[in-house]
Amino acid sequence: MEFLPVMIALHLLAVETLAGMLLFLHVVVGPARLVVVEGALDPGAGPEAWCRRVAWGCLAVMAVTMLGWLAGTAAVVSDSGHAMVFDPAVLTTLLRHTQFGLIWVLRLGVEVVLVLILWLRPSGRGLAEDALPWAGLLLLTIAMTGHAAAEDGSHHSFLLTAMVVHLAATAAWVGSLPLLIRLLADAEAGALSGNAAAVSLAREVVQRYAGYGGAAVALLLVSGGAAAWSFLGGRSPDLSSDYAHTLAVKAVLVASMLAVAGWNRLFLGRKLLGLGHPARILALLKRAALSEYALACAIILMAVILSQAPPPAH
Ligand code: HEM
Repeated sequence: MEFLPVMIALHLLAVETLAGMLLFLHVVVGPARLVVVEGALDPGAGPEAWCRRVAWGCLAVMAVTMLGWLAGTAAVVSDSGHAMVFDPAVLTTLLRHTQFGLIWVLRLGVEVVLVLILWLRPSGRGLAEDALPWAGLLLLTIAMTGHAAAEDGSHHSFLLTAMVVHLAATAAWVGSLPLLIRLLADAEAGALSGNAAAVSLAREVVQRYAGYGGAAVALLLVSGGAAAWSFLGGRSPDLSSDYAHTLAVKAVLVASMLAVAGWNRLFLGRKLLGLGHPARILALLKRAALSEYALACAIILMAVILSQAPPPAH
């Protein structure tokens, strides 16, 4: 496996995980906690402290992979034959005279702002509100590095919009999984130790996840389908190209992830809302969410390979 796609995929995974986690914390977990508290149960300090640690981890991975992405791209554009190039002259030209370089510098600036927000917010309270817009900007500027940004004419704004929606929807799903897994693990332990608050928080979150997850999946399928349709050639798609084959592998992985999510939602989630002693169902939900996240890692790698391969129609 070549160096650059792996570097970019790790970077995308860290950005999607951070942005999606903060969105999920803000629109699902936060309101669910309020319901549990109003029910006179105390879910404790809450996931903010844990999200803060994950956020630091994501920022560390982003910083290292940003450098790798730059040095790897410098190696490609200078045709050096090496995996990475740190020659100051090559890096300066890349950063000052290419769209990739300008976007890279902008994204580095946004990462610095995120580090300051995390540093200045020791408790983690209000983390989602403060950091989400910046994490969103870091995510959506990825659209400026793929094929959509290289398009001209009417296709440009259509594809850029499709990629912005696609990145936001995939992050909403993929980035929510680590926090969901954490809450399910807490609830599983709570079900065994009699901590009713953790179990009711998980129930409340799983109930709300149906709508949240459903919206994210619908948006990513429509936006991904629109981008695929355009890049493959519209009404006369070239299905024999490497691009089409890579997209087919990605689609199979997405179908597997959707199958696991469907089982979670239509079977385990419903069982959880019914049962008195949910420990076994919570354990199954947690493992299924873990396998969804593992599949998402493979999908993101395929997405990067896709964005590095020339689309047949353009
Ligand atoms: C969980 C599901 C999915 C995830 C996590 C995902 C993730 C991504 C990411 C991160 C990118 C940007 C890659 C980059 O710019 O380097 C991307 C691009 C893309 N995705 Fe998806 N995607 C998913 C589902 C789909 C589906 C279902 C389709 C098609 C029906 C699709 C089609 C595309 C296309 C055509 C691109 C543009 C690649 C290019 O720049 O040429 N994706 N996807």
